[in-house]
Amino acid sequence: MYSFEVLFPTRIIFGVGELNRLGQEAKTLGKKALLVTGGTSAKKTGLLHRVEQLLQAAEVPFVLFDRVEPNPRTTTVDAAARLARLADCDFLIAVGGGSVMDAAKAIAAAAYSGKPIYDYMRGNPANVGKELVSIKEALPLLTVPTVAATGSEANGTSVLTHWETHEKSSINGPGLIPKISILDPALTYTVPAHVTAEACADIFSHIFEAYLISKGYTHIQDGLAETLIRELVRFSTVAINDPSNEEARATLLWTSTLAISPFTLGGRGAGFPLHKLEHTLSGYHDIAHGRGLAILAIPYFRQVILQDRPDRLARMGRNCFGITEQDDRTAAEAAIEAVSRWFEQLGITQKLSDFGMSRDELLPMAKDTIRINGQGTDHIVSSRPLRVQDVLAIYEACY
Ligand code: NZQ
Ligand code: ZN
Repeated sequence: MYSFEVLFPTRIIFGVGELNRLGQEAKTLGKKALLVTGGTSAKKTGLLHRVEQLLQAAEVPFVLFDRVEPNPRTTTVDAAARLARLADCDFLIAVGGGSVMDAAKAIAAAAYSGKPIYDYMRGNPANVGKELVSIKEALPLLTVPTVAATGSEANGTSVLTHWETHEKSSINGPGLIPKISILDPALTYTVPAHVTAEACADIFSHIFEAYLISKGYTHIQDGLAETLIRELVRFSTVAINDPSNEEARATLLWTSTLAISPFTLGGRGAGFPLHKLEHTLSGYHDIAHGRGLAILAIPYFRQVILQDRPDRLARMGRNCFGITEQDDRTAAEAAIEAVSRWFEQLGITQKLSDFGMSRDELLPMAKDTIRINGQGTDHIVSSRPLRVQDVLAIYEACY
């Protein structure tokens, strides 16, 4: 196991009905909130109205910013940060999916520093090849996740798109970690089937990416990761077929938080190679993050993991998908088939060509993946260094 450090300071309030504590909890963070939501769902489901009533009842003044788009953009963050400064907001409340929570983190940082958020991003020519700045200071944030997917509610990551350069990448730092998160599974009952499916593919990727390329002994993390994958697979289809099933929604919500937590990831000495490939797809074509990951996963398993770490794929197959083959290579291939069948059940098996992408774009995208994420090197790190040609080969297999 590699050395690691855990910072998990978010106070998590979990349970059906716990949203009712919003007003009292918000009061502990500041005097006036910027309330951040997406454009449609919170209004349509009545959640925004309920949140406004809870804040009014607790006498928490707030200003609403309701224009965060899925795959949130830097221009949106900058506009909201200007509003927060103009209105003298001293904390933020994010009510929405990963996009809203990520935007709110970035707004909190930009409102605090007064700088455009692109100043912090990896692909900014001023930052390429340098260590990414760790954001230590930002306005305090309370999140209310409405999708079980990203784990953004308890981490210090915000993923943004700078559409002008088609860069989608993350900014990070302890200053971005939410102070409080209210996880009320009932708020996810209205998540449509296709978003639930994309969310489950995202959660799965958060778990398997580091798990499959871990080195050395990580027994506790592996056991936790395998339990999370098993329950994710089991309850993904339950939630799709029976959207207000409390057991399914609550299990998925807690799985999403733990999947990307240091308890599952710490000590592995491994990161998120596939996420780097996916962010470029979303940065160029605004593809939903989980859908992009599901498209990439099978070719990535075949071209990289099956060659380098059949032992880990075999282990995942045996412990999570009921594979009984003794031989590692055979079990690894069976695991890939099992994941494919699950993705088919979820309805998230597509090709890049379905998104109006031209084959000519694949090479510039592969180059951008390395330029933005390679930290000045010619590769990103997986079970082996992945260079432009390796990334291109995966994109081509998905086309
Ligand atoms: O935009 P609104 O109107 O809110 O509608 C959203 C959106 O259309 C809708 N929705 C959200 N909650 C709902 C709901 N519809 C009905 N009922 C509800 N309760 O669902 C759609 C997708 O929402 P979005 O927030 O985009 O989805 P998700 O939670 O999957 O977040 C995806 C974003 O998070 C980033 C992704 O790259 C992507 O930009 N990620 C953030 C991470 C992090 N901070 O650690 C890690 C992840 O790997 C990921 O990269
Ligand atoms: Zn993800």
